[in-house]
Amino acid sequence: MNNIEMIEEINRLKKEKNAVILAHYYQNEEIQKIADYVGDSLALSQIAANTKASIIVFCGVHFMAETAKILSPDKKVLLPVMNALCSMADMINEISLGKYKKENPDTVIVTYVNSTARTKALSDVCVTSSNALKIIDYYMNKNKKILYCPDLNLGKYAMDLKGYKFDVWNGFCSIHNDIDIKEVEKMKNKYKDALFIAHPECKLDVLKEASFVGSTKELIEYVTKSECNKFIIGTEMGVIYEMKRRNPNKEFIPVSGNLKCKDMKMTGLKDLYNCLKNETNEIIIDEDILSKARVCLDKMLELS
Ligand code: 13P
Ligand code: SF4
Repeated sequence: MNNIEMIEEINRLKKEKNAVILAHYYQNEEIQKIADYVGDSLALSQIAANTKASIIVFCGVHFMAETAKILSPDKKVLLPVMNALCSMADMINEISLGKYKKENPDTVIVTYVNSTARTKALSDVCVTSSNALKIIDYYMNKNKKILYCPDLNLGKYAMDLKGYKFDVWNGFCSIHNDIDIKEVEKMKNKYKDALFIAHPECKLDVLKEASFVGSTKELIEYVTKSECNKFIIGTEMGVIYEMKRRNPNKEFIPVSGNLKCKDMKMTGLKDLYNCLKNETNEIIIDEDILSKARVCLDKMLELS
């Protein structure tokens, strides 16, 4: 079967099975093109929570499909490539977080969506890069002690921006964390007429160089609204597909050549086709974990 036939088959199977295809902006272009919805972590969780489809095929990484299952437990949720993981999500687990909670019983656990269901089950509230600042504000204004986990960079960014002090876990996204301040300075010098924009998973020194810091969706919206025509992009390269689609006459230059999340890029058309056809790679979560993890995701949706 060639790609055109495969695309036709995916579309046919989708209707036959009442399935919806969700894709994160970091997915390969061919997947973004065929998806029913392309979005950032927050938008995709909201769609997963409200869809009428019977099957959700989640083109992303494991924690995202798990999140969809937690929010839509009666739906069949499929992940085309089961070993598409997120290195940051695995930098915390229920043992280490459980220990922290025992030692800090009064602390509110604010957990980034890039985490496993087991970590979420021990958390009070979940956040994504779109709503982290708002939700952190909510608890800080109530004078609560918080732990922000597992992304050190986003936590440090929030503390610096708002003048807060709270505990932060020592996790990071290897793609964003690898962006070096020297590369940023070099690119800003090379493209003097371009604006540098970055995702809050980057290190604080890098973020301080940015004209705008935002979640994937916010970065796409920023370049679309901006009067500027050239941007240096400090996030995963997949976003450039949507930026270009919306702004064909603007120029987008990745700040470095290796901004590809290998796990996000594992999914190809064939994986999507096989998964939908055979209904394989179903996400199954232990009922007790699912109901506990649901509490922190519901809290996030309520506060978003
Ligand atoms: P957002 O989609 O929330 O911007 O997160 C980026 C990310 O790293 C997803 O894995
Ligand atoms: Fe995880 Fe980073 Fe890949 Fe996002 S880009 S899935 S945070 S490793």
